[in-house]
Amino acid sequence: MDQVQVQAQMQQLAAALHAHNRAYYVLNDPQISDYEFDTLLKSLEALEKQYPNLIDPNSPTQRVGGDLTKKFETKKHRFPMLSLSNSYSQEEIIEWAERCQKTLQEASEFVCELKYDGVAIGMHYQNGSLQQALTRGDGEQGEDVTTNVRTIRTVPLVLQQDYPSDFEIRGEIFMSQQNFEALNLQRQAQGEPLFANPRNTASGTLKLLDSKEVAKRGLDCFLYGVHGLKSAANGHYESVLMAQKWGFKVPDPALRMIEKTNSIDGIMDFIHYWDTHRANLPFDIDGVVIKVNSFAQQAALGLTAKSPRWAIAYKFKTQQVETLLQSVTFQVGRTGAITPVANLKPVQLGGTTVKRASLHNADQIQKLDLCQHDTVQVEKGGEIIPKIVGVNLSQRKSSNRISFIDCCPECHTPLVRQDGEAQHYCPNELGCRPQVTGKLLHFISRKALNIDGLGEETVELMYAKRLIKNPLDLYFLTFDQLLSLDRMAEKSANNLLQSIAASKEVPFERVLFGLGIRFVGETVAKKLAQAFEHIAALEAAHFDDLLAVDEIGEKIAQSIVSYFSDPTNRAFIAGLKAVGLQFEAIQKTLNSNVLDGKICVISGTFDTFSRDELKELIELNGGKLASSVSAKTHYLIAGANMGPAKLQKATDLGVTLLSENDFVKMISQ
Ligand code: IVH
Repeated sequence: MDQVQVQAQMQQLAAALHAHNRAYYVLNDPQISDYEFDTLLKSLEALEKQYPNLIDPNSPTQRVGGDLTKKFETKKHRFPMLSLSNSYSQEEIIEWAERCQKTLQEASEFVCELKYDGVAIGMHYQNGSLQQALTRGDGEQGEDVTTNVRTIRTVPLVLQQDYPSDFEIRGEIFMSQQNFEALNLQRQAQGEPLFANPRNTASGTLKLLDSKEVAKRGLDCFLYGVHGLKSAANGHYESVLMAQKWGFKVPDPALRMIEKTNSIDGIMDFIHYWDTHRANLPFDIDGVVIKVNSFAQQAALGLTAKSPRWAIAYKFKTQQVETLLQSVTFQVGRTGAITPVANLKPVQLGGTTVKRASLHNADQIQKLDLCQHDTVQVEKGGEIIPKIVGVNLSQRKSSNRISFIDCCPECHTPLVRQDGEAQHYCPNELGCRPQVTGKLLHFISRKALNIDGLGEETVELMYAKRLIKNPLDLYFLTFDQLLSLDRMAEKSANNLLQSIAASKEVPFERVLFGLGIRFVGETVAKKLAQAFEHIAALEAAHFDDLLAVDEIGEKIAQSIVSYFSDPTNRAFIAGLKAVGLQFEAIQKTLNSNVLDGKICVISGTFDTFSRDELKELIELNGGKLASSVSAKTHYLIAGANMGPAKLQKATDLGVTLLSENDFVKMISQ
């Protein structure tokens, strides 16, 4: 094939992928399976690897994020990025609408839409291809964050249908509440400070230098304005809906996310609807925006210095109440981080009862200048955990300042706070109860060693009874010891022992994650397992060796070095290795012959293993994996949600069904 042919093939693949991406992310109507999509993507990646000179910067493969940007360049906006005048008063909205109509001296249509709580972005498209994405900056010039914006799946890199050849489109980049919560859970697991709310997270994410990290965090984008259309549309509403056809994610009229009205009552109805329904949205809004629809009328109304006269934002009031601070307690996390928590007199706020609020760290307490029994203002914005935003000084009853503790509330070890860190830590990792039980719970969690049948209470109880003081002890528990625990019957004791035994098959990367090394989350563990393949190599790695691994920065590298320099940790790992946990990336030698010559089929979803891991286990025990059930199949390993047709066929053919547990039992015999 010559280069021209290759290029044509690459363009074809890219076009198909762009269309499927849009069907999946924008229309919520996927046309092909994830697997088929990945196969197409991989073919394109392979061609791009072979012909790097033919890579299009807007290729769908570039979504994953690429090179590090050194810094963001400042660039001038083609049209200034104005802001909106806003108001918290419904009367002022009515006055604004009446003023528009008076100035225009004719009837006008209004478009009501949501005020997304994120970061503004201005994007330039030429000949259907994304050229540049700038932040608002000072309105005249913004930062070029194109590399990061390219990773956002709802931003089309190339357009469809009859798009204008050159235009600018503006919108809001945001993070859904779900992605925000998932990100914070992950950060919590890694002992990293939590983000305050989705908006700050979106804005911080957009300015990250590593676009791979941006890609992972899952930003999203709604469009709210098209500029530079000569005659394509008469009004704003039509232009937004046209942008949908070109491939953009725009608000859905069927869900009332955008609405055209010609009356002030219509505007008020929209405001009232979203004031009560905004809690149901999967993303945050901080108000609604009302715009005059007709472009001609917009031009007639004109601009003030900063904002257009043809638009206004109605902002919802942040819900705030006052209540009494009853006490401040200090919680110790798995990593030893100390979090101060304000215990409040229960109060209703935004539909829920608030009893507690996080105070984050010592600086926060100092900033609020908090005293005992203060009356505090509690606010619930985008964030899930309410926060204390101020103190009502006129109600102050005591001048006893709340001070941060010097010693761990659990084990009384003096706390440490490293230079530049906001958080205090209890350094007694191995003897401080919540740290020990927290590490145990992390070790047994689903994504780590996945040991079933041990809840938080049982772990606490076993720790209190000195049956376990670290994860290694789990592997020496006896049936009789378990039976001695309250509420542990024979059956559950057996299941637990079974599950502990099965954890010896869990792959290296998850064992590594389970160790609970600070800043080593799931992804980092995976990268480390791939790069070092064997625990001995990782133990011996120097700071620079670690830095050389993709996604490992100085903070993580330092944490790993310090973990392995501790002889207690090395002894702990040696113990885990001795009981049979996996500390090598891939085992190429056979584990057993129990599946010798047996054909297995897997179906459904599994708790402990991915499909790849199952395949590997089947092969390591002498078996073969087939893709569909036939007369030759010996075992059907059945997970949750297995297809009914497969089940029927297996039953008809007399194939032996194995549950995930049966399978584990079989191979660990
Ligand atoms: S229109 C000239 N529409 O609110 C008008 N802005 O100060 C330009 N925003 O940061 C903005 N949702 O990013 C418009 N539906 C919406 C919006 C919206 C959120 C943001 C915008 C800017 C701020 C306006």
